[in-house]
Amino acid sequence: MEISIHYDLFPDLGALNAQDRNLVQKAIDAAKKAYAVYSKFHVGAALLLDNEEIIVGNNQENIAYPSGLCAERTALFFAGANFSEYKILSLAVYGAGDLMGSSGPVTPCGSCRQVMAESIHRQNKGFELLLAGADGSVVKFNNALDLLPLPFGF
Ligand code: THU
Repeated sequence: MEISIHYDLFPDLGALNAQDRNLVQKAIDAAKKAYAVYSKFHVGAALLLDNEEIIVGNNQENIAYPSGLCAERTALFFAGANFSEYKILSLAVYGAGDLMGSSGPVTPCGSCRQVMAESIHRQNKGFELLLAGADGSVVKFNNALDLLPLPFGF
């Protein structure tokens, strides 16, 4: 047995279609407002809903480190709390900083992948995932679930 994942690689934001470019830009803007005083690693997330609204989130840290929350989950939980009647079409994430081993696109942590899997299960439909980093390149997955093969529960 073998599991493989497909993704598209874009060298810069200019290579994206207008909708994706706008969403990545919203994630970049959201990262600037992150509360990341401990890690100094600023992450932004932007969700496009099927009512055309965009929900943003960023990482919110805490002096008790595990009490903080990633940008992706901040946005996904806000959408789940306030916009559950709408489906998520796409999620863009931007993260850049010394914490990463490269200047390429940020890759979500395992907990955020699990929460993405729950959101997809909840809305009964996958959503696209755009990951961006300091070097300007973007990777696009047609379904965020591709990043978590064999998810717990589903
Ligand atoms: N972080 C995110 O917000 N999203 C990611 O995909 C990776 C990590 C945050 C958590 C913490 O505030 C900081 O980045 C360093 O791990």
